Amino acid sequence: MLSMFLAPETKEAAKAAVGNVAAAAPPAPPAPKLPPLETLHSWAMPTQASTFAESTDNLYLFIVFLDAFFFVLILAAMGYFMWKYKRRSPDQKTSSITHNGKIEFLWSAIPAVLLVVIFAWAEIDFIKQTTPPADAIDIRVTGRQWFWQVDYPDYPGVSLTSSTEEPLITMIVPKGRPVRLIMTSEDVLHSFYVPAFRVKKDVVPGRYTTLWFEATRVGEFNIFCTEYCGDRHSSMAGVIKVLEPASFEAALREAAKLEQKPTESVADFGGRIYTRRGCNACHTLNGDPATGPTWKGLYGKSETLADGTTLTVDDNYIKESILQPQAKIVAGFTGANMPSYQGQLDDKQITAIIDFIKQQK
Ligand code: CUA
Repeated sequence: MLSMFLAPETKEAAKAAVGNVAAAAPPAPPAPKLPPLETLHSWAMPTQASTFAESTDNLYLFIVFLDAFFFVLILAAMGYFMWKYKRRSPDQKTSSITHNGKIEFLWSAIPAVLLVVIFAWAEIDFIKQTTPPADAIDIRVTGRQWFWQVDYPDYPGVSLTSSTEEPLITMIVPKGRPVRLIMTSEDVLHSFYVPAFRVKKDVVPGRYTTLWFEATRVGEFNIFCTEYCGDRHSSMAGVIKVLEPASFEAALREAAKLEQKPTESVADFGGRIYTRRGCNACHTLNGDPATGPTWKGLYGKSETLADGTTLTVDDNYIKESILQPQAKIVAGFTGANMPSYQGQLDDKQITAIIDFIKQQK
């Protein structure tokens, strides 16, 4: 019955799963076909793609149906009593009614029992959802205005980000394995939310919060920031990709690779790094100042620094600003939001960024 509230793609997957069981030993399994990034239907629950999704939805729908049942019951009783006990004549007196012990007991006891049921049900789910299994894969998530950075401690050097410009693969996880996210923010409060997994947690500067899930469906799902965090909060979205465990590691390495393509100019490669490494969150290309100085006309420009000295923006200054952002801050900016890219960008990538900046005249 609950299936009427599920998004169509979930229903189809459920039907397909039933079909697979019925057809004994199907021929060689076809390559997994990735569903398109889920569509959110205003009238339906989001796709169910984690072990938490079904139980969360069941509890939610239980509460909705319970509310609907009592809403109808109470309004119907009210209407009936209004009709039945309406005053029949101008001199009709209301009979003296004091109380009814039985009914008063029932209207207290029944809601109390229902509330305890809701509490117990929710508490069991809550404990499950806040206790990551010991064998979970750890992933570090960092929130920044306005992108997510995702690092894999077990896979050194693998780092993915979201982009404010396009839906970019921000996180890759294997299907059927528990994953634990250890999250923090480098600036303001953000909130990490994956509707298809029914998980959401605040990402707070100065502390670590954790979140865990186990994906149950191969596919691509939305990540949203659900805490207003400034101008481009609504663009702080990413894509989480769930893969079969066998193809997880190779795909992760491939996605994290940020190398110049044979057909690509150095400056174009720099442009790709600009979006892939989150530079675009703070540096515009159109001359507008943002959290950081614009890159338009930056190269060769004479900049006044916070301490009053001036310098000309050249290759060495740009490189220093990428690796040690706090060394020389341009007047009018705090530099507080600029992370160091030491160990995250190699010399080739930094050169590409410099060439890209040179192009922004
Ligand atoms: Cu980050 Cu809203």
